[in-house]
Amino acid sequence: MTSSNPIERSFEIAAERCEDLTPLVYRRLHDEHPETRTMFRTEGGDLVKGSMLALTIDAILDFAGARTGHFRMIECEVSSHGANGTPRELFVAFFGIIAATLRDLAGADWSDEIDAAWKKLIGEVEGIAAATEQ
Ligand code: HEM
Repeated sequence: MTSSNPIERSFEIAAERCEDLTPLVYRRLHDEHPETRTMFRTEGGDLVKGSMLALTIDAILDFAGARTGHFRMIECEVSSHGANGTPRELFVAFFGIIAATLRDLAGADWSDEIDAAWKKLIGEVEGIAAATEQ
């Protein structure tokens, strides 16, 4: 089944081409924001990273789709991450990192519609982050 929701579609395309986004996303995050290399604990850090990405994707799909409530995690995590030393700009950057990873995997299949949907979503996340206390 091909999703008509462009954000969902972008994840479907990536899933056809890549079994696990985790290494790709964190390589990009650590390259673009080297300070994040030491932010995750050395022991068990990979589990935390995998889980953080899975929960973020869950929130993104809910935010872009049914809005049953998982998307509210975005707001909660902005403040808890602030307390843990992740400024809101960096927090928001994680969404752009995920989008860029999907775009690379999609190549020519990254449509204008998908691009516009991601830009809108990231803008909205910026709005949530800006309105949330850290
Ligand atoms: C570049 C941006 C981000 C950085 C540097 C970051 C950093 C971290 C770190 C260091 C931890 C581990 C804390 C620990 O060891 O207990 C963590 C956990 C977590 N992060 Fe992030 N975070 C970022 C963005 C996000 C975003 C955007 C979300 C979701 C919207 C998110 C959701 C979570 C969750 C749910 C956990 C707990 C995972 C678990 O242990 O199951 N993070 N984050």
